[in-house]
Amino acid sequence: MGEIWIDGAVPLSGEVRIQGSKNAALPMMAAALLHEGVTVLHGCPQIADVRMMERILNILGVETCWKEHSLILDCRRVTGVEIMDDCASCMRSSIILLGSMLARKGKMKITYPGGCAIGKRPVDLHLMAMEKMGARIEEKEGFLLVEHSGRLEGKNIEFPFPSVGATENTLLAAVLARGTTRLINCAREPEITHLCHFLQAMGAEIGGIGTGELWVRGVSTLRDVEYQVPPDRIVAGTFLYGAAATRGKIILDNAPVEEMEAVLEVYEKMGGQWEYKGGKLLADGRKVHCSPGKVETSCYPGFPTDMQSVLLAVLLTIPEESCVWEKIFEDRFKVVSQFRSMGGDVVVEGRKARIRGGNPLRGTVVEAGELRGGAALVVAGLAARGITVVRNSHFIERGYENLEQMIAKLGGKIRFAEK
Ligand code: EPZ
Repeated sequence: MGEIWIDGAVPLSGEVRIQGSKNAALPMMAAALLHEGVTVLHGCPQIADVRMMERILNILGVETCWKEHSLILDCRRVTGVEIMDDCASCMRSSIILLGSMLARKGKMKITYPGGCAIGKRPVDLHLMAMEKMGARIEEKEGFLLVEHSGRLEGKNIEFPFPSVGATENTLLAAVLARGTTRLINCAREPEITHLCHFLQAMGAEIGGIGTGELWVRGVSTLRDVEYQVPPDRIVAGTFLYGAAATRGKIILDNAPVEEMEAVLEVYEKMGGQWEYKGGKLLADGRKVHCSPGKVETSCYPGFPTDMQSVLLAVLLTIPEESCVWEKIFEDRFKVVSQFRSMGGDVVVEGRKARIRGGNPLRGTVVEAGELRGGAALVVAGLAARGITVVRNSHFIERGYENLEQMIAKLGGKIRFAEK
């Protein structure tokens, strides 16, 4: 357990390099299981969720090692099929092992997946797809048993909602399936596109990349691959909005601006200025002063739900009224009570939050309850006067690599304290 201490009201300034993407790396790690060989992920973020997925893969028999930020996954021997471990129940991404494990071993028994406390997060769409492809599913108290014999069957799978995880799982299951799988109304998040390109590099046959309709023609073998994990658009957005909240001016090296359109659009509406030059995002948040009006989270290319609480932190600093509508997860406003204890005026009604910004934020002791809410508290702390202590910083470590060191590099007065 740890705490992050911030002495705020200092505009961020300087340059940082954006880490590899958590939500791209995790499904790639799951995909490595499909191949009886070695996969190397370069630029892999060293964060708690990646370590946790590594631990799960180790339980299954995968040998792993790190060379700086390169993660080597030796999947020649996969001996286990059970993940009845705490790490599966506390990380939702463990569910995306299902597609790979069915393809590779024909069976998987897994503790019901958990994850961030941001809503119910069922896995019905994942199971629907696996079942359609021929798997038998038993849901017992606390765990899932999914099995099939022979090869999975390629099918037309139509999603009632474009779930990111269910799309990834179905892609993974389809790569080695017999025949062609069509994914209709699937997610279009950049992480899906990255996963498709990674699978293609492994030898998979995939089309429709970047659209809401993908097809996968099953192949019988894959090959060793070395792949660069793309940069994390949410981490880049967090720094961008951190500069906005503190009216700072920063440079983000390796920021995937082409995936950040909606985030940059809202930033511009707030008065933020930016340009992209020589592979770097130059962000000037000194003129941030006005409300973007109403912002709704939605599937890509809309405004990402993962940036919603960080946006709230910026809106608290703008002396106007704003409204944020959370359309993806039903319970992603938990951080609001913590903002209130810092002096923020936010009222939540159902899935809508109304923010009356401009009340001076003051440092106090707050508690992170999940990953992005925790990062948002750090951003609010950077904008607040006095000392903010963010407890439960282990939630933030799930997705941000050395956040305190990065912010300190940008001139923030911040330190980590072991508790
Ligand atoms: C992924 O979660 C991300 N996680 C989340 O990032 C992100 O918030 C989310 O996509 C939306 O962009 C990873 O990539 C590891 P979904 P996932 O399936 O796959 C409902 C972060 O902060 N649903 O698209 O779980 C679900 O309840 C995290 O980095 C079903 O009803 O998201 C939710 O309301 C947290 N049944 C909505 O769909 C299902 O079977 C979106 O979920 C699956 C999902």
